Amino acid sequence: MRLLSDKISARISSKRRSRLAGPAVILLGLLLTGGLYAMFAPANGAASTANSDDVAKGRALFLVSCASCHGKNAEGIVTRRGHNHGPSLVGVGAAAVDFQVSTGRMPMAQPGVQALRKTPVFNSTEIRQLGAYVASLGPGPAVPSSSETDINGMSADEISRGGEFFRTNCTACHNFQGHGGAMPEGKFAPKIYEDTPRQIFEAMITGPQQMPVFADSVLSPQDKREIVGYIKAINSEPGYGGFSLGSLGPVSEGLFAWIVGIGVLVLAAIWIAAHTARSKKKVEADA
Ligand code: HEC
Ligand code: HEC
Repeated sequence: MRLLSDKISARISSKRRSRLAGPAVILLGLLLTGGLYAMFAPANGAASTANSDDVAKGRALFLVSCASCHGKNAEGIVTRRGHNHGPSLVGVGAAAVDFQVSTGRMPMAQPGVQALRKTPVFNSTEIRQLGAYVASLGPGPAVPSSSETDINGMSADEISRGGEFFRTNCTACHNFQGHGGAMPEGKFAPKIYEDTPRQIFEAMITGPQQMPVFADSVLSPQDKREIVGYIKAINSEPGYGGFSLGSLGPVSEGLFAWIVGIGVLVLAAIWIAAHTARSKKKVEADA
């Protein structure tokens, strides 16, 4: 900064004023962006927007709807057989609550292999309050700010980079178009194109269930934003190829030909076998 101002004052003395307009505008621009960034940058840590009123209201909601599985103080409940009735929520952060409750996964209707996406039970104010309560228990990822998840006007470059990140980090479980896929033990990676940008972002920072957490050192917030942009972009495109066959690529297309083609041949073989003289004779002999 000092270097820059030295340079500018040197210029003031040596050059005419109008030639300074450029650098001055740049300087002003830099200061403005810095200021704006400081204003809008997501606050770190848990208690960013939480006030004590939200925490108290969130705790009241929690005791009614969540404590039966997660414990009165969200410490988690382990059943006698060592099964996790509901895990501890200390340190999962407001982002995990926002993700789980806004996708309708929580409150879980009944213990099962996997909490399913359904119509959310709570409105956004209640979700914020629940999040504030859980965040007050221990530091965890905060709900991403709207600027972090804003994908409007994203450039084609950013979207294609998002596609690269998506293919290396997500397709193993969620398939090339985000249609999802099976996982061990009867679990599955769901389709992800219905999620809002915020929910996609939160899934990456909280890693629900079998999904890994993508720390900022692995995918920076901008990388994550690009992934979100890519997921939203591919799913707003119409499918031009007719029947998508699950968009699994050559494998599903080959499989389709295999099952239908061989299936027809097998049926034909069975038909022929059932209509030959020899099998008729055998049936008569058996009778
Ligand atoms: C019927 C029991 C049950 C109820 C009721 C319930 N949960 Fe859960 N919750 C679970 C189980 C089991 C898991 C872990 C399994 C999973 O994620 O699929 C879980 C996971 C979570 C997670 C994710 C934790 C993590 O490590 O990321 C959050 C957050 C959560 N619950 C919040 C809530 C909130 C808030 C409520 C109340 C609105 C609630 N739960 C009600 C059983 C329950
Ligand atoms: C190891 C497998 C795995 C990988 C890799 C993975 N996910 Fe997931 N993902 C899952 C599973 C399993 C769930 C379901 C969790 C649940 O139901 O609690 C999930 C859930 C989600 C959801 C929520 C979908 C819904 O129904 O609301 C989103 C969004 C998502 N993942 C995005 C991503 C993105 C983006 C990446 C890459 C950066 C990624 N996932 C990488 C396994 C994975």
